[in-house]
Amino acid sequence: MNLYEAMATQRAIRRLKPDPIPHDVLSRIFQAASWAPTGGNVQPFRMVAVTDRDKLKSLGELYTKQWAVYTEGMRAEGDALAPARKKMMLAGDYLCEHLHQVPVMVVFCFNAEHMAITDAGLDRPSVVGGGSVYTAVQNLMLAARAEGVGCVLTTLLCFEESAVKSLLEIPDPWGTCAHIPMGYPVLGGYGPTSRRPLSKMLYENTWMASSSFEGGA
Ligand SMILES: Cc1cc2nc3c(=O)[nH]c(=O)nc-3n(C[C@H](O)[C@H](O)[C@H](O)COP(=O)(O)O)c2cc1C
Repeated sequence: MNLYEAMATQRAIRRLKPDPIPHDVLSRIFQAASWAPTGGNVQPFRMVAVTDRDKLKSLGELYTKQWAVYTEGMRAEGDALAPARKKMMLAGDYLCEHLHQVPVMVVFCFNAEHMAITDAGLDRPSVVGGGSVYTAVQNLMLAARAEGVGCVLTTLLCFEESAVKSLLEIPDPWGTCAHIPMGYPVLGGYGPTSRRPLSKMLYENTWMASSSFEGGA
């Protein structure tokens, strides 16, 4: 499919069917992830494709625990919760209830010892290291989009990293930074994304100066 169309319609899909994803489709998706650029081309990431039912059940339980914490404030808002947030919360609830049934959950692992993290010494949270993993995550998700396979990038399981590492036998010093359940969408699945207009995200030459690059897509 057209790359721009894929990017413009790559929504988070949390309602996933248990139906299997053909092996060749998954192989293409994983291959696409492996093509991602990384700092110094070191490729300091690995993927664990979890298909084992018992392991998926355990991951689902851990995820559900963290989702409950994450959504506590939303639930407390009751009827005042904005419709878009409520929609997301209900879809997330669905994911929790069905996570043990998804055909595959991909856990992205990284090795910080193999990364040139150029902002590690700055007096603010470091983000550069993630750039050598999330490029692969985005490749995987775009490939899934192209194949009509639904997925959502989740990170709440980072709060449970030691349990996840032990379940999947991930050795030190590897860490985990993205957990992506995949499956065919239950509802309409992909569609237009809702984002800030480009004019509010792109400046030209100086901060806040409006740019001339608009309406290209
Ligand atoms: C770094 C990152 C972490 C995320 N973590 C979670 C998560 O733990 N659980 C979840 O349901 N969605 C998670 N998401 C998905 C976002 O909530 C979603 O991409 C965003 O709300 C936009 O939704 P949309 O694509 O449907 O418009 C995460 C996304 C990113 C980029």
